[in-house]
Amino acid sequence: MITLKSPRQIEEMKQAGRMVADCHKEIAAMIRPGITTLEINDYVERRLAEMGGSQFTKGYNGYEYAICASVNDVIAHGFPDKKPLRSGDIVKIDIVAIADGWIGDSCWCYAVGDISPEAQRLMQITKECMDLGISQAVAGNRLGDVQHAIQQHAEAHGYSVVRDLLGHGVGRELHEEPNYPHVGLPGKGVRLKEGMVFTIEPMLNEGTYEMKIDADGWTARTADGRLSAQYEHTIAITKDGPLVLTSQD
Ligand code: MF3
Ligand code: CO
Repeated sequence: MITLKSPRQIEEMKQAGRMVADCHKEIAAMIRPGITTLEINDYVERRLAEMGGSQFTKGYNGYEYAICASVNDVIAHGFPDKKPLRSGDIVKIDIVAIADGWIGDSCWCYAVGDISPEAQRLMQITKECMDLGISQAVAGNRLGDVQHAIQQHAEAHGYSVVRDLLGHGVGRELHEEPNYPHVGLPGKGVRLKEGMVFTIEPMLNEGTYEMKIDADGWTARTADGRLSAQYEHTIAITKDGPLVLTSQD
């Protein structure tokens, strides 16, 4: 069942969303060759607490960190570690916060130092896919319209869209219905209604969409070792259109 949020509840959800967005803006200013993802992890955990919220992933299904940090061919759910980031890396930092009982979830992809034109293009198209998906997230459309906009743009640029990791409803729980892949057909799927809150979080690969999971049970990598990028926002469907709860603007 998809639980609808009232305008007042959506207003309350802005707090966690804002905290996640502020962390991302601060990370954008910190990211450089030599920094470790464990430093970013500790920074985010401290900052969310300072802002009056808290990290949500540590302890979630046995996950042990306050962020996911996924470098290069890691698609998602990478563990932060002590290995310094290097110029040329791309790193996806995924942050989930809880504040006032409501969750906000956003992942951002960062370039470390100077990255290749190929990596820049992958990041750019992935961001465009997220934005195109968001623009379709209006009451009266169907979820398939969001999925199709993403898949169409990605594939038109020669990228594949990961199938096995899903966008999801967000509220008092991190993963609520609907759970959906970022591929699909226009006019299909559930009809979008005012009060729905969910993530739009396309993962695009340079090569195959197939993934494999490391022996740690979490780290999801591209099966062919090529690059993967992701951007994620939590959005609410309002009568005025999509409201990006994790907006960095
Ligand atoms: N943003 C990720 C998601 O949508 C967060 C995963 S948190 C983890 O599921 F704890 F499950 F890693
Ligand atoms: Co998510």
